[in-house]
Amino acid sequence: MQSALYTAMGRSLSLGQRRFAGTGLMVHRDTKENNLNVKFKFTPENLKRIEAITGIYPDGHKSAALIPVLDLAQRQHGWLPISAMHEVSRILGVPRMRAYEVATFYTMFNRQPVGKYFLQVCATTPCMLRGAETITETIEKKLGIHVGETTSDGLFTLAEVECLGACVNAPMVQINDDYYEDLTPKDMVEIIDEFKAGKRPIPGPRSGRLAAEPQGRLTSLTEPPPAPGFGLQSGL
Ligand code: FES
Repeated sequence: MQSALYTAMGRSLSLGQRRFAGTGLMVHRDTKENNLNVKFKFTPENLKRIEAITGIYPDGHKSAALIPVLDLAQRQHGWLPISAMHEVSRILGVPRMRAYEVATFYTMFNRQPVGKYFLQVCATTPCMLRGAETITETIEKKLGIHVGETTSDGLFTLAEVECLGACVNAPMVQINDDYYEDLTPKDMVEIIDEFKAGKRPIPGPRSGRLAAEPQGRLTSLTEPPPAPGFGLQSGL
């Protein structure tokens, strides 16, 4: 019905599955890389980090450290296998189910292997209106992969995700921990070339503006603020 309505309006409506590379199914399925026989241990440095993280929380509330400790496990391993979730729940003294709940809810946790560079293209409305689809197509063409796939050299994984909170700088892509914003297809090609060359492209807006400042000139707050009381209705 909805589909027919959209067709009648001349728009196409995608009813396909959301295309996340990192999260996939909300249940665990044993694979060659991800099964109970895969060993996971934190490095000594990360065990010290866990001590510092859990030290923040009062006794009896270690479960509050689930997100940062799962994140640490992912940073160490590159993604989050089930054995890492078990190790985190053992260290924090919480049921394994608590780790599963967190890891399957937050899309920042990748429960399948991802490439060295994880490209997450924001495809939500502001980015879409500013050309996100063209950015995705540019990446697909440049790397020879589709959304949800990893290049054969294991360097790049491509995912489409929901709003990453940088809408003012649309369209944008998150690559590992960095945001690349105000993108054009040319920028995207250059960014990939720099990663391929082993460099780290400078994150942030590619348009030359600083952060989310107005492009061109100020359109509001152009005068000094009025003194206290100025502009109030006369009755006050
Ligand atoms: S819509 Fe893309 S960052 Fe918000």
